[in-house]
Amino acid sequence: MRVLGIETSCDETGIAIYDSEQGLIAHQIYSQIETHAAYGGVVPELASRDHIRKTLPLIKNVLQEVPCSGDALSGIAYTKGPGLIGALMVGASLACSLSFAWNIPLIGIHHLEAHLMAVMLEEQHPTYPFLALIVSGGHTLLVEVDDFARYTILGESLDDAVGEAFDKTAKLLGLGYPGGAALARLAEKGTLHRYHFPRPLLNKPGLDFSFSGLKTHTWHCYETSDKSTQTKADIAWAFEDAVIETLVAKSQRALLQTKLPALVVVGGVGANKKLRHSLHAELAPLGIKTYFPRIEFCTDNGAMVAYAGHERLVRGFFADPLAITVKPRWSLEEIEKN
Ligand code: KG4
Ligand code: ZN
Repeated sequence: MRVLGIETSCDETGIAIYDSEQGLIAHQIYSQIETHAAYGGVVPELASRDHIRKTLPLIKNVLQEVPCSGDALSGIAYTKGPGLIGALMVGASLACSLSFAWNIPLIGIHHLEAHLMAVMLEEQHPTYPFLALIVSGGHTLLVEVDDFARYTILGESLDDAVGEAFDKTAKLLGLGYPGGAALARLAEKGTLHRYHFPRPLLNKPGLDFSFSGLKTHTWHCYETSDKSTQTKADIAWAFEDAVIETLVAKSQRALLQTKLPALVVVGGVGANKKLRHSLHAELAPLGIKTYFPRIEFCTDNGAMVAYAGHERLVRGFFADPLAITVKPRWSLEEIEKN
């Protein structure tokens, strides 16, 4: 079986083909970061227009790269939601039209299920069940994954997503957009423990997160400081330290509660080296394995959508009529389970 994956939920156009026998056989990505950087965040209308320009040419490219004709595919998977409505509509309308033209099944994918599946593209991947920490620009969740399509949300952010907190903090420090990776690089030059940031909700029971207070704390520290490059690095270090300690502690708490044997970390913030290192260092002595996708598949991409589509096609877990359907708001617990 061969499935084409289309990702257009935010500011990345990702196209890929996953094959049952050969694995991932083609993937291409176009990032809109330069378009949005000037505005300090994603401008939804510009995102939709860029997806319109890029999606079809990228589909042509991957088909040529394999090479493979469209009607030789077994299915076409696209990100149905959650995400920006206009951006989702571009992927959905193209997927729907191609599904009709090529007479192949149409499979709508939940963006967070796709992120979860990114780890399955690695040679070192977990078996079910496992705990997942999803940390992206739009979402922060702890999820019990019993099997494919069997997800229970154990905790989530009550306000900003962790990637959003990284981006907003980076913006306060003048690091541009998106600032997560830049903030992490600056933090490497920071003085340890010069500043101490609060650990939100850590002394309360439960598995929810809150990150919006950290950016306010950053603002206060920065505005009352000498604003030197070293001070910025020291603040970046303290911010990152607080976020990572919170994520590690909540993951440990969830593992203790569920007795799950492994932790999977996915989403853009999963690219953070210090987070990867801290989780491994804390969990390995407890006999818990940690799994991460390769760095390029932490952020949005088409490969994870193609793989999730393949898994749904193999199991018959899809019921998408030939219609342009998007779900800008969609809980992971509301997906089709069979
Ligand atoms: O998963 P993703 O592409 O977006 C959503 O689906 O929401 O993640 C993008 C997020 C951005 O907020 C970006 O700043 C953050 O991931 N990010 C990082 C790092 N690399 C990307 N955050 C912290 N450290 C990094 N190295
Ligand atoms: Zn994403």
